[in-house]
Amino acid sequence: MAIFEWSDRFSVKVREIDEQHEELVGMINRLHEAMVANKGRELQQEIVNEMVAYTNFHFATEEKYMRSFGFAGYFEHKREHEQFAAEAAELKARVDRGGLVLTLEVMTLLKEWLQNHILGTDMQYSHLFNANGLV
Ligand SMILES: [Fe+2]
Repeated sequence: MAIFEWSDRFSVKVREIDEQHEELVGMINRLHEAMVANKGRELQQEIVNEMVAYTNFHFATEEKYMRSFGFAGYFEHKREHEQFAAEAAELKARVDRGGLVLTLEVMTLLKEWLQNHILGTDMQYSHLFNANGLV
């Protein structure tokens, strides 16, 4: 069973961003499956690398729109992205060094960070983006 079940309550009502979020959810689920099935370090490493790269791409998309539409909470939101990106880079470094086999605890942290960030932080730009024609 997937560790993160996508549902409509995670929709920020912007198709492009919902699709990126679903992509990230898919990566978390694939990583979790690889962990549960004991698929080995190489595959885990591959998914973590992909996830870190995609996360940076996704954050850049959100930040671009926040800047374009003059979102008031831009710097605070960006700081959350930077903190997560730093943690993700640290996770990647540990997996690359072979010092960390992913655990359920790490997977739960990833999942909860994304859920809380979408529901608590991303939702705050939803109206502004829609009002600027981004749907
Ligand atoms: Fe965000």
